[in-house]
Amino acid sequence: MATKRILSGMRPTGKLHLGHLVGALENWVSLQSAYLNYHLIADYHALTTDLESSELENNSLEMVIDWLSAGIDPNKSILFRHSQIKEHAELHLIFSMLITTSRLERNPTLKEQVRDLSIENISYGHLGYPVLQSADILLYKGEVVPVGDDQLPHLEITRDIARKFNNQYGKVFPEAEPLITKFSRLPGLDGGQKMSKSLNNTILISDNPENVITKMKSAVTDPLKIKRNDPGRPDVCTVFTYHTKFNTNEEKEIRGGCESGSLGCVECKLKCAAAVSNSIAPIVEKRIQLEKSPATIWDILYDGETKARKVAEQTMQEVRSKMKLGILK
Ligand code: TRP
Repeated sequence: MATKRILSGMRPTGKLHLGHLVGALENWVSLQSAYLNYHLIADYHALTTDLESSELENNSLEMVIDWLSAGIDPNKSILFRHSQIKEHAELHLIFSMLITTSRLERNPTLKEQVRDLSIENISYGHLGYPVLQSADILLYKGEVVPVGDDQLPHLEITRDIARKFNNQYGKVFPEAEPLITKFSRLPGLDGGQKMSKSLNNTILISDNPENVITKMKSAVTDPLKIKRNDPGRPDVCTVFTYHTKFNTNEEKEIRGGCESGSLGCVECKLKCAAAVSNSIAPIVEKRIQLEKSPATIWDILYDGETKARKVAEQTMQEVRSKMKLGILK
């Protein structure tokens, strides 16, 4: 049986945070031996919410450093920016004919983003975000897409587009399946539904222990636990959610201490900060090494882009052939 292909990606909006780590990156790392892995830096997608492009190249580099620090192995995974592979734009154009604007307007992830960022007039390209994402996935015939649950609506659109293309012109594309992790949405420090750079509620995977402590101190807890000895409700506490992910050994004890009132929030936060720093210590350490040789990182990207381009060109030839558009010489 042929090895299945994974295709996943992230927008290069700066250094990655814990939400990226537990929502996707950890999953990518654990799956990379069993699959053929394509991981894309969605630099064009970053333009949907910020037209300022001067930092994109540098942010892409920082993101690759974070990926490698977290355990992505460039010998097992192909890493690339979609802006470097023209076929993404070409397939995006064709796909944009296969979906209606009303279908795109109904997308809940888009609606959420428009609300969070107070966008008054959405651009044509932003509305088409999932169409470009479909091209990202299907150019490489991605079958498995490990992402957070906010990406499910995009994946549904990807499957619709694949089906529509295959019915209209003949089978080229698989129907991509999402692969979601348990912690696909880690709450932000502000108690909001998710960590997000634009909401300014993150802990970075490259944060040193002092920074983690400072940020953790700002995290919201149970609003009814006011004094140290008040009994608390771990199930409504953001910090407790982090314990359940990063501090499983002490989880039971912490729940007991919080509920009985014997554990105060300050101490609980310090324990949580220590557990988070412990989990990310190997990432922080590896990053310090990798930062010393940006030329090596660029080589990894150029190599990935050369490999990805070949696959993308081949898929586009198939598309052109099925559509009888004429094959590029
Ligand atoms: N939309 C994804 C996110 O915001 C990023 C992305 C772009 C992606 N293209 C992709 C994810 C293709 C999976 C597959 O996280």
